Amino acid sequence: MSAEATTPKPVELVNVQIDGVWHQFPKGTRVIEACAQAGKFIPRYCYHPKLTSPGNCRMCMVELGMPKMTPDRKPELGPDGKPLHNWIPRPQISCAQDVSEGLGVRTDSPMVQDARKGVLEFLLINHPLDCPICDQAGECRLQEFSYDYGQAKTRFLDEKVKKPKRVEIGPRVTLDDERCILCTRCIRFMREVAKDDCIGIVDRGSYSAISCHPGKKLDSNYSLNTVDLCPVGALTSTDFRFKMRTWFLKETKSICTSCATGCNTVIGARENIVYRQTPRENADVNQNWMCDYGRLHFHYLHSPDRLLSPVARGHEQPDWKDAIASAAAGLKAVAPEQIAIIASGKMTNEELYLAAQLAKALGVTRHDIVPHTDAGDDILLSADRNPNTAGAILLGISASTPGADLSAIVEGVRNGTIKALVVLGEDATQAGLTAADLEKLTVLVATALLPNATTAAATHLLPSAGFAEKRGSMINKNRRLQRLNRAIQPPGLARDDWEILAALTEAVTETNLGFTAIEDVVKAMATATPALAGLSLSKIGDLGVQLEPATAK
Ligand code: SF4
Ligand code: SF4
Ligand code: FES
Repeated sequence: MSAEATTPKPVELVNVQIDGVWHQFPKGTRVIEACAQAGKFIPRYCYHPKLTSPGNCRMCMVELGMPKMTPDRKPELGPDGKPLHNWIPRPQISCAQDVSEGLGVRTDSPMVQDARKGVLEFLLINHPLDCPICDQAGECRLQEFSYDYGQAKTRFLDEKVKKPKRVEIGPRVTLDDERCILCTRCIRFMREVAKDDCIGIVDRGSYSAISCHPGKKLDSNYSLNTVDLCPVGALTSTDFRFKMRTWFLKETKSICTSCATGCNTVIGARENIVYRQTPRENADVNQNWMCDYGRLHFHYLHSPDRLLSPVARGHEQPDWKDAIASAAAGLKAVAPEQIAIIASGKMTNEELYLAAQLAKALGVTRHDIVPHTDAGDDILLSADRNPNTAGAILLGISASTPGADLSAIVEGVRNGTIKALVVLGEDATQAGLTAADLEKLTVLVATALLPNATTAAATHLLPSAGFAEKRGSMINKNRRLQRLNRAIQPPGLARDDWEILAALTEAVTETNLGFTAIEDVVKAMATATPALAGLSLSKIGDLGVQLEPATAK
């Protein structure tokens, strides 16, 4: 390959004047983005940086000036040596126009302020004034921009056009057509990102409305992204609407743990209840989107069946100390070769590291995770429904083919060579064992959130924490190390999994591991694992860290 082909082309910069101050931007930058980079936010409805720009809402108007030219076609310069401008006498949209050399932009001139007022007046002509009962209140751009850029009075005296309300446009999305401002973000998202061209605009003028194409529904696994994109309360999540006012939600940055993609999320919770998950932008993982399956996969955290107290057979109402001591004593009474560990690809790295320490302490060599697969797609959803398969492999709990050792464990339980099993966050019947097989075990230690066949047979049941109830890290399918954060506390006496595993290992080894916080576990793990050397939860940051590709073993 020639040197010319490998050298990246230098970025061409152009000089642009924004509100009287000159800046430089890479050629090709949208005017609306250039203004944002210069600290001048331009209100917008239809524009979204990840979608095409139809320029239909007209909210992003600015004044544009082209460089004034001398008769010999050279820019006419002002006293400061910079080009003077010929200002276009009409406002222009900034979302569909790229910066060019010498361009002038006015973002807040009287003409721009008038244009914005006019656009908002038009948008509000048929918009119902139902903000007090609208679920978008608190994050509605129409409400916000009306305050910031609109006018207090309306000149409209006629009856507003009534449009369909509470339409089930899909199984998870509700449409209030009369709130729609026809920005077409939802249409473009479904067409351009979700690859499901299912909605459009019907009728004309004041009667234009969003509707599904004949015979279609907004039922894609990505349908709820239209709710995030809708700048007003026209599209709302059927699951979330009217459950909680958005300003009451405590927001926690985390990741989705429902597949190996690890979409970045914001968990919205109040008073220890998760109300919603929404996507958080990460250009290296999920852009601005997430799938509906992952988004809604949190209600089980609040199941009335959650396991709330530790159980140890033979102990009435054991506390954690009793349960851990009894589980450790039970495991130690069995020869190491008669013990196996079935762990989970849903565990964090820290938990997997501690599971490996427990295996070492017990002398256990048979351990694996349970693979969970289902149909994936080529947008975000991964066929691997375990969020941390890569972590389980890296930390040695699973071989490079997850689940490869499960059949030997199943066989061992069946033929009686395995007498004790530790099952971490899984139901062993999904690994091939039957309820009858589990009954044969002398010791069955299980951590779990919800009852299942394994917890029913467990001699020691240790209730643990769900993904929104703990901190830790995971590695996605592209080897991006990301962290999850605690949004709510685990219910009852349920404990964080790392604490359970550390306590169990300490009880088995009769030593103090010295872990008082998860940061101590991360430190020990990073010291022992070259691929994670020098990392800590704070260094992982909100957007994660890219690890080197795995080396073949
Ligand atoms: S429903 Fe919302 S996103 Fe779709 S066109 Fe109307 S305002 Fe825009
Ligand atoms: S694609 Fe995977 S990680 Fe992303 S939201 Fe869906 S299930 Fe969660
Ligand atoms: S944001 Fe520019 S026209 Fe809508």
